[in-house]
Amino acid sequence: MSTPSQIGGGPPASRPGCAVRCPPSSILQSGLRRQSRRSNGGGLQRTRRGLRLAAILLAVTLAAASHVLAQLPTYGLGRAPTAEEIKAWDLTIPHDGQGLPVGSGTARRGRPIYVEKCAACHGEKGEDPKYNLLAGGRGTLTTDKPVLTIGSFWPHAATLWSYINRSQPVDEPGSLTADEVYAVTAYLLHLNGIIGENDTVDAKTLPRVQMPNRDGFVLDPRPDVGEASKAR
Ligand code: HEC
Repeated sequence: MSTPSQIGGGPPASRPGCAVRCPPSSILQSGLRRQSRRSNGGGLQRTRRGLRLAAILLAVTLAAASHVLAQLPTYGLGRAPTAEEIKAWDLTIPHDGQGLPVGSGTARRGRPIYVEKCAACHGEKGEDPKYNLLAGGRGTLTTDKPVLTIGSFWPHAATLWSYINRSQPVDEPGSLTADEVYAVTAYLLHLNGIIGENDTVDAKTLPRVQMPNRDGFVLDPRPDVGEASKAR
């Protein structure tokens, strides 16, 4: 006669840890057979357990195909990163400037740094088109030949800081101090006629800089990304 514990093909699961660290299916099944003989009584809870066990057994059978069972949550490889390691990679500053570090800079202070570390590739005034033009191009976005620069295209100043901080100079990313990044950012904003030579940019003032193309972007209308795109 069929007892409820047999519905779903198995006895009660008495190995809640199985889903995390499963023994080979042969061991599991023989263990379960033994328990099945011992099982007495039934009930709805047992039926649910039986169904859950059936699902677990199916997963175990599939996983056992290679005779190597995954060990969640690490898969037996590597280790969890430390908070400090995550911090070292988590460099992105959003457009509202959240997370901008202490420090400050002006275009006046940024000029010599830029000349030394950036001008060879971008030109002393950001005018060298060899790689990316950094200045000029205002008013060209609606023409047949749009010129994308910080002044004509970038919508936010804080993300400019973020981009330079993590990726420039191209051949030595991450080499600038926070103050140096503030200073060259200020210099580039000044080259584009957006701020004055002695205006100080820091964590507070930089997100408030009004970029000329701030309102030139169209929000992504797809419903699943619409809200998220507003945050950029
Ligand atoms: C060795 C050459 C080189 C040096 C030095 C260099 N850059 Fe760049 N820069 C590049 C290249 C190449 C790109 C394009 C990278 C890409 O598109 O992935 C770029 C892109 C940029 C951009 C993005 C422009 C845009 O509108 O997309 C900025 C801003 C920038 N650089 C700033 C700087 C600053 C500031 C420095 C100095 C601290 C610097 N670069 C030094 C080669 C260089």
